[in-house]
Parts: sequence; structure tokens; C-alpha cells
Amino acid sequence: MTASIDVKSSSGTYCYTVGSSVFEGKIAALQQNTGFDTCFILVDENVWKYHSERISNTFDSLNVEYTCRVIPAGEQSKTVTQWNDLIDFLLQSGVRRNTPLFAIGGGVTGDLAGFVAASALRGIPLVHVPTTLLAMVDSSIGGKTGVNHATGKNLIGAFYQPEEVIADLDFLDTLPHRDWTNGLSEILKYGAIDDPAIFDECKIFHDSNVLDSFRNELNQLILKCAQIKADIVAADEFESGTRAFLNFGHTFAHALEKVSDFDQLNHGEAVYLGMLSAIKLSKEMGGELDDKPIRDFRSLYSFKVTREMLPENELFSAMRSDKKVIDNTFRFVLLKSWQQPVVMSVKEKECIHKAWLTVYHELQ
Ligand SMILES: NC(=O)c1ccc[n+]([C@@H]2O[C@H](COP(=O)([O-])OP(=O)(O)OC[C@H]3O[C@@H](n4cnc5c(N)ncnc54)[C@H](O)[C@@H]3O)[C@@H](O)[C@H]2O)c1
Repeated sequence: MTASIDVKSSSGTYCYTVGSSVFEGKIAALQQNTGFDTCFILVDENVWKYHSERISNTFDSLNVEYTCRVIPAGEQSKTVTQWNDLIDFLLQSGVRRNTPLFAIGGGVTGDLAGFVAASALRGIPLVHVPTTLLAMVDSSIGGKTGVNHATGKNLIGAFYQPEEVIADLDFLDTLPHRDWTNGLSEILKYGAIDDPAIFDECKIFHDSNVLDSFRNELNQLILKCAQIKADIVAADEFESGTRAFLNFGHTFAHALEKVSDFDQLNHGEAVYLGMLSAIKLSKEMGGELDDKPIRDFRSLYSFKVTREMLPENELFSAMRSDKKVIDNTFRFVLLKSWQQPVVMSVKEKECIHKAWLTVYHELQ
């Protein structure tokens, strides 16, 4: 099954499509509609390793000139240095205002390519082809682009919307187990802030072969998450209010990622732990909920970090450099109850300490 939704933004409406074997047809249609004769493609080394033939065949058949750049896999590529290299490359290769950049990969490729597209010539067309579950349900939608800085995650970037998002389930065929749970965390997040049915629908992830066993259910679930995100960003594109709800668990998560040097925990693992902490803090602040709907998926995660690798003073200081800190007061997205998110300033360090203890409890 193939399904499309419109994502509304101030710079126009774009189409998000999810389905099986949609990549080739959608790229060909885009070329016919926009008539580009040159394009750039950004992929990481894993996507290139597994999917280079498919990608090359698709673009070869278009009779366009294309150049593919392959970056190292992982968060280490979301840097100003990598952004600078790509900008050099595009400008030296004669990029024009109408030359599209295709980001074929996970959230790292998408965030980096997005910021490159936003800044080269003050904006070139960007097309997201998400190849991880996380990128399909979250990072390819809504226009947040950027790179990390030594002082924290995603601190340099821009809002920049794509022309189109093409999510082809076939790419997920090569996704390692760890990246399924990575995406699952963001899906559970939508369950926590928006739709309780998602918790039940996520049971399919207990099957180690979810793609083959539950392809239709997975397609529906990805579409549902994309629609939730599209609705939230349409209502508050630049995060002056309700878009912040998408950061549920993320203030803790970003600190965990930074203190673990971005390589011991992936984003989704940090978000899973971050949500457990945020639930604990929500309860400390008077929220009425228990963590069972999230904890039911605990057995799917195994964490490489130990509590010794995450000193609490470092976690606190990492939280201080998060974008959500205002006037030295920590701001969190908490839950009054399930699906009732609220942005709350928390001064009580003791309550935040208890929330961090929740993380330590999960680690050896
Ligand atoms: N812009 C946003 O709104 C937004 C939202 C959520 C997360 N993010 C960002 O997204 C990033 C995390 O995204 P991610 O988890 O997709 O990371 P990622 O891009 O690093 O991908 C995870 C891993 O999967 C590999 N991979 C990708 N596609 C594959 C495939 N089809 N088969 C096999 N391996 C594949 C990658 O090489 C990498 O090793 C973080 O930097 C996070 O901050 C951004």
C-alpha cells in the first residue's frame, strides 16, 4: 500500500509518501515535473554499501548528471566541518539555485543535507529520502536542519522545508536491530504526547522480523506518525508553542548523547531513557501517570553505556547548554497525564536528580 499526505509550511505544501517500492517512480515523477538536469545526492557509507546499485540505477535512468557524496555513518558527521566540506564541494561543482540535493539516509544525513541545502546559495531544493525508521517518522518532516557543536546537540542550523519526502519501506530491509528500536522511541513519543492507540500498535516491534511479518501495519503506523508530526509543525512551524511537545524526553536525551560523546548511545536510545526520566519528573511535578506503556518495550533495548560513563554533574551541565534553557531555569516537556503534554520550568534540582536516578537504574 502507498499513501501520501500533505505537509503544510509557510514556504508551501509538500508531499510525504510512504509505501513499498515507491522510490524509483517518485524520483522519476519529480524529475519530469521540475525538469532538473543536474543534481546532488548525499548518502552515508552504510546506505551506499547496501543501496548504491538501486540509487545509481534510478538516477542513471533519468538521464541527468548527478554527483553522489558519501559521508561517514553516524552522529560524527553532523559537524560544521562536514557542512563546510559539502558547501565547498557544491560551490566548486557549480551548483545552481535550482539544482536539487537528495538526502538519502537517516536523520544524520537528512539534518546535515538540510542545512547544506538551506545555506548553499541561500537555499537550493531539498528532497528527503529517509532510510531509517526514525527518519521516516520524524526527522524528514518539519524542516529542522542542522549540525552539532562541541557545547551541545543541534545548536547550529536552520528551519528549511523539503520539496518532497519519499519514504520507501524497502530501504528498511537492511536496517540493523538497533536502529529499529532507535525509531521505535520516537514512535512511542507520539503515543505519549498524542495518540494512546500507538502503544498497542507498537507491539509489532516485538517481532524480530517486523518488516516482513507486519508490512501493512508498519506502513500504517509510519503514516500515522508522519500525520501527527505534520499536524504539529503546521500549527507551529517555528516552535513558539506546541511544537515543543515533540521534545518530550529530549532535554534528558540530548544531555545523555552529549555526555556519552554521541557514540555510545544512539538518538533513539537516549530518547527512550529520556522519556523514562521525563515521566518520573512529571510525577514529581504532580502528573498522574505510570511508565508502563513505555516500559513494556524495555526488553527491546540494550544499552552500551554504563552509569559510570554518565556523571550527574556532567549531565546537569549538558542540560544547561540545551536550547530549552531560559534564564538558568530548566524547561521540560512533561505530562500532566498521558497525551497531555505541558512545557514546565523546573527549579527543584532534587526532582531532576530523581529523574536522573531513573536512568541510572536502567544501566549497569
Ligand atoms: N530534524 C529533526 O526534526 C530530527 C528529529 C529527530 C531526530 N533528528 C536527528 O536524527 C539523527 C538520528 O537519526 P537516525 O537514527 O536515522 O541516525 P543515522 O542517520 O545515523 O542512521 C542510523 C544508522 O543507520 C544506518 N542506516 C541508515 N539507513 C540504513 C539502511 N536503510 N540500512 C542499513 N543501515 C542504515 C546509518 O548508516 C547509521 O549507522 C540525530 O542526529 C537526531 O538529532 C532530527
